[in-house]
Amino acid sequence: MTVDIKNVLVCDAVDSACVELLQKNGINVAYKLKLPVDELCKEVKNYDAAIVRSDTKITQQVLEAGAGSLKVVGRAGAGVDNIDVPAATKNKVIVLNTPGGNSISACELTCIAIGTLARPVVPAVQSMKEGRWDRKLYSGSELYGKTLAVLGLGRIGREVAIRMKAWGMRIIGYDPITTEEEAKAAGIEKMTLDEIWPLADYITVHTPLIPATRNLVSAEALAKCKKGVKVVNVARGGIVDEQAVLDALESGQCGGAAFDVYPEEPPKSEVTKKLIQHPKVVATPHLGASTAEAQVRVAVEVAEQFIALTGKSQVYT
Ligand code: NAD
Ligand code: MLT
Repeated sequence: MTVDIKNVLVCDAVDSACVELLQKNGINVAYKLKLPVDELCKEVKNYDAAIVRSDTKITQQVLEAGAGSLKVVGRAGAGVDNIDVPAATKNKVIVLNTPGGNSISACELTCIAIGTLARPVVPAVQSMKEGRWDRKLYSGSELYGKTLAVLGLGRIGREVAIRMKAWGMRIIGYDPITTEEEAKAAGIEKMTLDEIWPLADYITVHTPLIPATRNLVSAEALAKCKKGVKVVNVARGGIVDEQAVLDALESGQCGGAAFDVYPEEPPKSEVTKKLIQHPKVVATPHLGASTAEAQVRVAVEVAEQFIALTGKSQVYT
């Protein structure tokens, strides 16, 4: 199957490598970032394809506005949560993504988050900038010998496991699809969730947000954990129950948490805002894929898939 792609609308800030590659291959590109929804609905009619990251929402309304012209939506990233895939299918629009391009970056941010929960580097740096010298306040704990639970043993979960094992952590994990052998190859002891909760010193989630994973780390789960368990979410807002973590931080059941993703972005709810302000929380604004390397990779991958769809051989220079 080939698709005639002549004009592409780039809706979010993707690396220029994407635009350059498309143009070299004879595809016209318009760069119109963060259009309000009514303008996006007007614009989308003029294009065969659109490229987004996570800011622009490709809703049913947008897809219906593009009906008859829009044939492909490309996501320069892994999750397609911001694209209404059933509505796209109904409107005969192909949805494609670049699932592996930013895995290492998301994995590395996760490892950094785990490190900042073990050693309070963030508040210590702030204290130095404020002219203080508080050595006693910022003592931490070693990761060596601690147990890390990885929930979701796909691309990112396994990379996190491999790296944190090198720090001397015991890695346990849960995934309904990944086999015990695949888990073992990444140094992970596969277990049930009920076996995991009481063993974990740290929990990190790496699943998509689907009904089965919403509130995977819940109040009930946290209550079954060791006192002081630490939680990391660099996957999708909603996989970790934010209210449950907030309550557990207050009671001391949770010893710290790191979030890169939120149920609404930018965060709006009072719960998320309280969590971000909590002294034991390290919060970053969805930076998992924000590295030079990942952005070039996803940009090139999305462009290459568009060119492949046209059925023409790719021009590189
Ligand atoms: P992946 O598809 O490779 O792996 C996901 C794994 O989750 C799969 O192995 C799957 O079997 C497992 N899973 C599904 N349901 C589960 C359940 N109920 N319990 C436990 N595991 C379950 O995905 P990935 O590329 O590793 O990405 C993981 C997450 O990270 C996604 O949500 C993705 O959108 C997110 N992500 C975030 C950033 C960021 O910037 N913060 C960057 C890249 C990816
Ligand atoms: C993804 O799904 O790839 C990430 O969340 C990163 C991004 O939104 O760019």
